[in-house]
Amino acid sequence: MKQQLEQIKTAALEAIAAAENSADCENVRVKYLGKKGELTAILKMMGGLSPEERPIMGQLVNTAKAEVDEALGAKVAEMSAKAEELKLKEETIDITMPAKVNKTGKLHPLNTVLNDMIDIFQSMGFDVVDGPEVETDHYNFECLNVPADHPARDMQDTFYLAENILLRTQTSAAQIRTMETRKPPIRVICPGRVFRADEVDATHSPVFHQIEGLVVDKGVTMCDLKGVLEQFAHEIYGPDTKVKFRPSFFPFTEPSVEVDVSCSECGGKGCRVCKGAGWIEILGAGMVHPNVLRACGIDPEEYSGFAFGIGLDRLTTTRYKISDIRLLFENDKRFLDQF
Ligand code: DAH
Repeated sequence: MKQQLEQIKTAALEAIAAAENSADCENVRVKYLGKKGELTAILKMMGGLSPEERPIMGQLVNTAKAEVDEALGAKVAEMSAKAEELKLKEETIDITMPAKVNKTGKLHPLNTVLNDMIDIFQSMGFDVVDGPEVETDHYNFECLNVPADHPARDMQDTFYLAENILLRTQTSAAQIRTMETRKPPIRVICPGRVFRADEVDATHSPVFHQIEGLVVDKGVTMCDLKGVLEQFAHEIYGPDTKVKFRPSFFPFTEPSVEVDVSCSECGGKGCRVCKGAGWIEILGAGMVHPNVLRACGIDPEEYSGFAFGIGLDRLTTTRYKISDIRLLFENDKRFLDQF
């Protein structure tokens, strides 16, 4: 019986050593230590022993059981430690890995400058209005005092879509639409895309942007025009900026001016940005021509007004020192990421 016990114990210990997972361990426990297990069975067989042998054998069986139990416990502990280690290894976070960068969109430089312009004019009481990009000859030219045979039409190489329908060449058309739908006092700006069949180069694009301005009220004078445009130039380019009004011609204004600002890069000395001139031309303006007021049903004897048209692209390229207007339209992320 002793020998049998020894064999069972050895077999149990070997099975424990060979166990590869917790299921194996459980099988060993059931096979040897369970209610119907082999070691338990030996205890039950002790009834056949003499009273002297019984306690000795009992002790041996208990010792063997304890030994198997301990080995099994150690094996289970070893396996769970190994599993834990494996899990930790799998879950390791490599803190040296580059983080995922959240890419957020941002405003195009044209929009940044436009938003600044809108803020400036809104603070002076201007509303923002919108106009269609596909216009009629009537709004784009006729009502702006540019009849069909007027030589000023030649200054704008125009995309015609049909006989009298075209891509607007200037935001000035929005003046007419505004005067048709609103009664003076009127104070609006109209930003938008305009189109001309220009050859593409560093300063020309067939698509560009203007911001039209219009003020109509009783007693509006050239002083108001100068005051508003000077204020605008100081806010955009800084308070030390000098503003120059040069006589010019536009069919829809009389008198007409072109407005230059002292170059913000060199302060007027002359540099690459202002092409040595010391000045940068930023807009055209003037007092609204009586014919234009009349075409919109406004009596020029009672009301007067001024208007201006600002080139947004020029404003943006000078502010950010962008050397080529084409960069604004190419959507190259390497360029846009710089703003
Ligand atoms: N529409 C003119 C252009 O495209 C710009 C302009 C000049 C607009 C004078 C005006 C203005 O409203 O008064 O060249």
